[in-house]
Amino acid sequence: MITGKTRVCGIIANPVEHSMSPIMHNFFAKETGVNLAYLPFKVENGQLEAAIKGAYGLNLLGMNVTVPYKQEVMHCLVEIEENAKVIGAVNTLVRTEGGYIGHNTDASGLLRAIQEEQVEIQNKVCIMIGAGGAARAVAYMLAKEGAKKVYILNRSLEKAESLANYINDWIGKELMIPLNLSDWGKISENQCVVIQTTSVGMHPNVDQSPIEEEKFFDKIQTAVDIVYTPLETKFMKLAKAHGALTISGIGMLLYQGVVAYELWNPNVVITKAMIEEIQQQLLTLLEEKHS
Ligand code: ATR
Repeated sequence: MITGKTRVCGIIANPVEHSMSPIMHNFFAKETGVNLAYLPFKVENGQLEAAIKGAYGLNLLGMNVTVPYKQEVMHCLVEIEENAKVIGAVNTLVRTEGGYIGHNTDASGLLRAIQEEQVEIQNKVCIMIGAGGAARAVAYMLAKEGAKKVYILNRSLEKAESLANYINDWIGKELMIPLNLSDWGKISENQCVVIQTTSVGMHPNVDQSPIEEEKFFDKIQTAVDIVYTPLETKFMKLAKAHGALTISGIGMLLYQGVVAYELWNPNVVITKAMIEEIQQQLLTLLEEKHS
């Protein structure tokens, strides 16, 4: 029930209608017994700064920010956390004195989703496919978690090189090795953790995978896709057929929300059972949308 004491959070995006965050956060609020309402806010081009100021003025507790404002919002904050600074994007705002602090929960959300499956990144040889916006959060997470070596495979080598140089400069060693997508054969290691960060294979292009050659999949111990429609991408199917453990992008979507909710409500515990229930609800919604 909304009362005089209800705290308000929300998501800023354009468009915002497709967002599943309101369903997820209102479910968490109900289940954890917090008097909190989470609303969608469509912010038009040119209105972001006014929206953030307005949100602060209206005493909003926190916000998520997504496409197309994850970079632009960085100019509207009083402070930016280290993770968001390195990734170069903010997806969560937490209220503080005088304004909002910017966080990025994509990297920590992905890590939580991977750890839930008892997979460790530390000391592992990892392979990333893609070097776009989403890949920056993944690269940061792998570097921060102590991966042994990270190959970045990308269609255009320049982008892989640019991301590798950026992270290597930050971490202070030659951790990331850029390669052309077609040069995966140069990777000698097996038992790798592979993270697919491109939109290839996303609904409706469900019969596509950025790499299709069977031999590549022999290198994979764990295959993580950040795509969550379909729940099992072609990339995951190929990896599974070669004996790999597979992790869907739905985990990253859920846990970036869990981490944000925990930032707004530091003393609240979101249980595994709650996460499983909301995952089921979101999957049903996605199925309805795409059937
Ligand atoms: P996002 O912000 O969602 O990560 P992006 O910044 O446009 O999106 O990045 C998309 C990534 O997917 C890039 O790494 C892109 O490769 P290029 O840098 O060569 O463009 C990759 N990508 C997109 N379509 C692809 C395809 N059909 N095959 C292989 N890689 C593809």
